[in-house]
Order: sequence, then structure tokens, then C-alpha cells
Amino acid sequence: MTVARPVAEVASIGTAVPAQVVTNADLSKTLDTSDEWIVERTGIRERRIARPDESLASLCETAARQAMSRAGVTAEELDAIVLSTVSPDRRMPGTACDVQALLGAEQAAAFDISAACPGFIYGLSIAEGFVATGTSRTVLVLGGEKLSCITDWEDRSTAVLFGDGAGAAIVRPARPDGRGILSTFLKTDGRLAPLLWIPGGGSLEPVSEKVLRERSHFMKMKGREVFKAAVLAMAEATDEALRRACITADQIDLFVPHQANVRIIEATAKHAGIPMDKVMVNLEKYGNTSAASIPIALEQALEEGRVAKGSLLLFVAFGAGFTWGSAVVRW
Ligand code: ACO
Repeated sequence: MTVARPVAEVASIGTAVPAQVVTNADLSKTLDTSDEWIVERTGIRERRIARPDESLASLCETAARQAMSRAGVTAEELDAIVLSTVSPDRRMPGTACDVQALLGAEQAAAFDISAACPGFIYGLSIAEGFVATGTSRTVLVLGGEKLSCITDWEDRSTAVLFGDGAGAAIVRPARPDGRGILSTFLKTDGRLAPLLWIPGGGSLEPVSEKVLRERSHFMKMKGREVFKAAVLAMAEATDEALRRACITADQIDLFVPHQANVRIIEATAKHAGIPMDKVMVNLEKYGNTSAASIPIALEQALEEGRVAKGSLLLFVAFGAGFTWGSAVVRW
């Protein structure tokens, strides 16, 4: 079996999180919940919540500037900006357009995608395609969320899970050293959408007094069902990413999964036979930041020296849609 050869590389990443920390103890002042319940069921201890005037675009701009500076890329060199989010600053235009303006990326086409928690992986895959076809040379991929604005703070079953943040990556043609994106795998099952969705406030049921009264403009989730689907889908995505990269699990240096629930992460690692000391977990500090969670976890792994040049990384994520996906990257 020959290891796949990459056409595109992840040249750098960058991240940004709001300064405001909200702990489980803070939440238990207004919700019928406890630190014990949240830690035992999810592993989350605290999350970052944006101030009202802190926009998703500004978080993405900070993450983008860090990634660009690390890769030595200027705003003029960006050909495309792909921003994955389910919590855009406005419904129109896309938040990627605001980021394009903030960066002054005059040559870049900018657009949002909606792929929930695997959104960063979906973005990487789109960027890889742009590079492979020659449509773009330098792509800024962003996964950013201000989930605090689509969370129902009166619903304990979801309010304890989410946080805000942004992650960025610069994707460009791979050099001949074998580093880059070795595989991606994306999959969707839209029949299961009602298990995790925002039913109201869209064009099917525009904002109305009824929507506001029923709070249907906020996220609704059937946690237990989502949990079961997540475990199955993360296992499938893990197997597929490895198969497509022509590698085996024991070759992975660090598994960087979506940070939703430590029990889902442990089940996925066990399925793949990857020991937990090769798994990056930091959801205790940030909760589930959806499309931002993989770059935020990778950033911490880099800071901790757990990733070296040439390390083989596995990304796997699952979320609303249902959407799921995975990637193997040689760093
Ligand atoms: N505090 C205290 N009790 C609570 C809380 C809370 N915050 N939330 C729920 N409970 C109660 C429930 O009411 C229930 O009580 P009951 O037994 O009397 O009915 C009990 O705790 C157990 O509830 P479950 O939902 O069965 O708890 P579970 O162990 O499944 O954990 C959780 C819930 C954490 C939501 C889990 O199901 C989960 O992580 N699901 C997957 C989430 C996920 O991965 N989402 C996908 C990505 S998100 C995206 O795409 C944006």
C-alpha cells in the first residue's frame, strides 16, 4: 500500500476565542444543572462566550491574520475565502464577505458554507479542490461560530454544551516533500435533520411572534439520538479517512477530533484502536465550538509540542445535518 500523495498543504493555522470565560458554576446560577452533571456527561468545564459587540467576522479576522502571518501570506495573495458557520453575523451577505473586507483581500472570492461541526473539514476539502484544479493558489479556510447567539439559554439540555470561537487555515499547493492533505471524506444524511436543528426563523417559517414565543429560532437537539448517530458516523469517517490515505491507525501521530463530548471521542478512539495519549482533547476549556473546534484543538496541540513537521494527523467530526467528515493531513 502506497501512502497517498497530497496536492494541497495546510501551510498554517490560526485561532481566536473571546476573552469572556463562562464556567459550569456560572451556568448553574440560572439553569437547573450542575458542574458534576456537565463534567460527567460531556467533559466540559467552561466555554468562551463573545460579547454582544464582538462579531463572528472579527473573531475570524483575528484567526485569519494569525494564520496568514505564520504562513507569510499577504491579503492580496488570497484567491478565495471559505468560511464555514451555522451562526453568521447576518443572513445576508455571508460573513466571509465581511472578513474579505476586514482583511482587504481584494483578489479573493469569499463565501460561506453551512456544514455545522465538520465545517472546517468541508472547507479544507473545498480548498483542496480549488488548488487541485488550479482555480486558486492560496485559500483561506475559516471555521467560526458565535453559537451563543443561536443557543437557548433557558434550555439546559443544549445551553451547557456550546461555546464561541474561530479557526483559520491557509491551504496552498503541496511541495514535493509529501506534506499536505492526504485524504478527505464527507458524508450527509438530511433525513435526520430534525434531531439537531433550528426549526424557525428561516424562509420556511420566517420570524414571527409564534417563532419567538416557541423559541424555535434557537437550536433544538435530541441529545441521546444525536449521541448514538455521532458514535457510528465518527467511526465510519475514521475508517474512510485512513483507507483513502492508504494508512493504518497505528501510523497516526495525533487524532484531533471534533470536541463535542469526551465520551464520543473515547468511543471513536477505541473503535480505531488509537490510544488516548494520541488524542487531543480540550473541550473542558471551550465546549463545543462546532466548525472552530478542530483548529482550536490543533492550536493547543501545536503549543504543547504534540505536533512536529511531518506528523500524521487525523481530523474527524460530526454535526447537524447530519453531516460528518474526516481528513488525514501530514503536517
Ligand atoms: N443538567 C442536568 N441534567 C440534565 C441536563 C443538564 N444540563 N441536560 C439534560 N439533563 C437531564 C435530562 O433531562 C435527563 O433527565 P431524565 O433522565 O430525568 O429524563 C437526564 O439528564 C439524561 O439526559 P440525556 O439527554 O439522556 O443525557 P445524555 O447522557 O445523553 O447526555 C448530551 C446529553 C450531553 C447532550 C449527550 O447526549 C450528547 O453529547 N449528545 C451529542 C451532542 C453532539 O455531539 N452534537 C453534535 C454536534 S453539535 C452541532 O452540530 C452544532
